[in-house]
Amino acid sequence: MEINSRQDIIDILKDDTINEQLFSYADKVRHENVGDEVHLRGLIEFSNICKRTCKYCGLRCENRVLERYRIEPDDIILFAQKAVEMGYKTIVLQSGEDEYYSTDKMCKIISKIKELDVALTLGVGEKSFGEYKAYKDAGADRFLLRIETTDKELYKQMHPNMSFENRVRCLKDLKTLGYEVGSGCLVGLPDQTIESLADDILFFKEIDADMIGIGPYISHPDTPLKDCNNGSFELSLKVMAIVRILLKDINIPATTAMETLNPNGRIIALQSGANVVMPNVTTTEYRKKYEIYPNKICINEDPSQCRGCISAKIKSIGRTISTGYGFHRK
Ligand code: 5AD
Ligand code: FES
Repeated sequence: MEINSRQDIIDILKDDTINEQLFSYADKVRHENVGDEVHLRGLIEFSNICKRTCKYCGLRCENRVLERYRIEPDDIILFAQKAVEMGYKTIVLQSGEDEYYSTDKMCKIISKIKELDVALTLGVGEKSFGEYKAYKDAGADRFLLRIETTDKELYKQMHPNMSFENRVRCLKDLKTLGYEVGSGCLVGLPDQTIESLADDILFFKEIDADMIGIGPYISHPDTPLKDCNNGSFELSLKVMAIVRILLKDINIPATTAMETLNPNGRIIALQSGANVVMPNVTTTEYRKKYEIYPNKICINEDPSQCRGCISAKIKSIGRTISTGYGFHRK
């Protein structure tokens, strides 16, 4: 399957007769470049408080229905310890943009977790170069910041009071500082075009991303986009598969949003280019409150149930669980 140009990407995205061929080719590229190991990342969703107002996101500060929480630094460290005991070699700290966690607080959390012999990923949003540098100096290895969409007009529509240029600045700063950088996009935002998805894919190549997470947009009833349709599972899978084919050796998660739209979504993704899963290691009491979108999976499970569940599924398709840190090997 030849993908040599923007037009090739557009043609593939528009042609649904070649989907199975695309998925199996992406699976082959995955096998040849990153092997059969699946890297598990233990995800801690430590605060659902957010100062932003992204139109699609349930955590937006204007959503007054959502019950808010923040987990204290000492407890975040305890959750990380538990996850390490369960076998996780990467911890992901994710939250809304919550200013309660000062640079000082974050750096203390980071350095404590790094004492546990794990790789550490942050997903805490847009910060200054100085803040990113402080986190890096404290020991953070990776950072997740999706561009969400590279269509500037759509970006503006979706993100009041934010700027596309600043988001790109963040991604560049993170690269400069030596982070492994994860980005990604939403598939199926209202008024998003196939052409703009092709541009998203080319953008990931241009910024030399180390990880790319792709997920369908899922409509949340307590947001301004409540009447919009969900994105398509198949189209999200196609975007992901093309990313695998073009950025052969990067890490690609089978995202939770994929499984929200398809009960076997993560396994299908793992067989269409993905090589990473990020099981939730936050305790059950917080899970339903981290409602970025409705019907999120694993809401009633606990960390050990998720570890067991996903490990069994991965083994059932003949793949193995990695015991390494899972860095991007170029
Ligand atoms: N549906 C799907 N994904 C969403 N995200 C935010 N809101 C939604 C939604 N309604 C994604 C964004 C963000 C990630 C943490 O969750 O892409 O980067
Ligand atoms: Fe959480 Fe399956 S991964 S229940």
